[in-house]
Amino acid sequence: MAGKTLYDRLGGVFAIAAVVEHFSDQVLENPKVGKRSKNPKLRAWHTKDADGRMPGLKFMRTLWVCAVTGGPFKYEGVGKPLGEAHRELEITPDEFDEVAAELGRTLDHFKIPRREKDEVLGAFTKQKGDVTAGALAMAR
Ligand code: HEM
Repeated sequence: MAGKTLYDRLGGVFAIAAVVEHFSDQVLENPKVGKRSKNPKLRAWHTKDADGRMPGLKFMRTLWVCAVTGGPFKYEGVGKPLGEAHRELEITPDEFDEVAAELGRTLDHFKIPRREKDEVLGAFTKQKGDVTAGALAMAR
């Protein structure tokens, strides 16, 4: 158990894809960050762009999680750096926290154990600076 990667402990690509699918559908309906968000960029993405882009977003999110948890996948050099991918969305630190909370609820929904839940949330939270850089740049 000790030597297993987080990727393996989560159950590999199929389990991770199921988590990402549920999480992404929950974010879409979340009043703060989904299609009714007060952030016009997030509202526009979730009401308009999501139709064509949600399947690809689920794929790229799955790839990112599979790579960052030590699975046999590569995100870097394939997907956009996270700062660049989110700059235009102007995501605030508060909105980021709401998405992290949504991820936490999804991990609970799938009964992911405490240790793995904390590790996934830790990897997510580490990206807060990059993902919210667009909103912080706006505020200056
Ligand atoms: C650690 C935090 C996050 C990770 C790992 C992550 C992961 C990703 C990835 C891998 C992409 C695709 C990048 C590409 O086009 O190559 C993406 C895009 C996107 N992310 Fe995130 N994300 C994070 C936080 C957030 C937050 C807080 C939101 C707010 C709702 C968000 C909303 C979006 C949206 C709407 C796109 C699609 C942009 C497009 O249409 O190209 N993400 N994200």
